[in-house]
Amino acid sequence: MNQFTVLFLCAGLTGASAAGNAGAGAPASLPDSHPTATVVKLPDPARDGRISVEKTLAERRSVRQYASAPLTLADVSQLLWSAYGVTKPVPNVPMLRGGLKTAPSAGALYPLELYVVAGNVTNLAPGVYRYRPESHDLVLVSGGDKRQALFEAAGEQACVKSAPASIVYSAVFSRNTGKYGKRGRERYVCMDLGHSAENVYLQCGSLGLGTCAIGAFINADLKRVIGMTKAEEPLYIMPVGRLQKRD
Ligand SMILES: Cc1cc2nc3c(=O)[nH]c(=O)nc-3n(C[C@H](O)[C@H](O)[C@H](O)COP(=O)(O)O)c2cc1C
Repeated sequence: MNQFTVLFLCAGLTGASAAGNAGAGAPASLPDSHPTATVVKLPDPARDGRISVEKTLAERRSVRQYASAPLTLADVSQLLWSAYGVTKPVPNVPMLRGGLKTAPSAGALYPLELYVVAGNVTNLAPGVYRYRPESHDLVLVSGGDKRQALFEAAGEQACVKSAPASIVYSAVFSRNTGKYGKRGRERYVCMDLGHSAENVYLQCGSLGLGTCAIGAFINADLKRVIGMTKAEEPLYIMPVGRLQKRD
């Protein structure tokens, strides 16, 4: 099955529009807040690399097949930092969650939440984790390998099951729409998402990893698999794995 067949099959999957239904109709079983009991400190991310941004741009592709090798905790740290890491700390402004970040955000309102669904990551037990940019760490949401459930929520797209880990994005639309209203709902939140997700693509290029932005999934199922709060709407799954060796 090629990528276009996958997209065709998934065309009816996405359920209600995230932008039009932020927080609406959420099942009662979804939590109001996230657990915070188990914290995994991430290694410091590198601020420099050996591959130019031009080369990562020239070679960027969506990659749906990966080597079987695990990711490392350093890979996960680097990917999350590239996506939404703090680059200019601003203390005592809770809205900024640590400060200005690698990705621009309309009004610096930072509506995105990032999760890691880890299945095969060295020094990270399988589970769903939430990224906290302000402390560059992970908080366990639920333990166990959730890749099969993620694969089912994504219309059985194989890369979601085979990747050692996936980054999953959601947004709390109200963080943005309180200021920007309809324009925030229809434009700015997903523009923020695009900036952050492209950073993940480019960081993958620099690390010898591959990823694919996955927008086709069943919203309610993905929310349940991740343990999103009622206020969040799921936006992307980005499976990540090592590139397969070329012959
Ligand atoms: C909003 C969005 C949603 C996407 N959803 C999927 C998806 O569900 N499954 C998939 O295999 N690829 C998905 N893609 C990846 C596109 O198929 C891919 O970007 C496109 O074919 C161009 O290929 P390239 O990224 O290698 O340049 C998505 C891309 C975008 C921007």
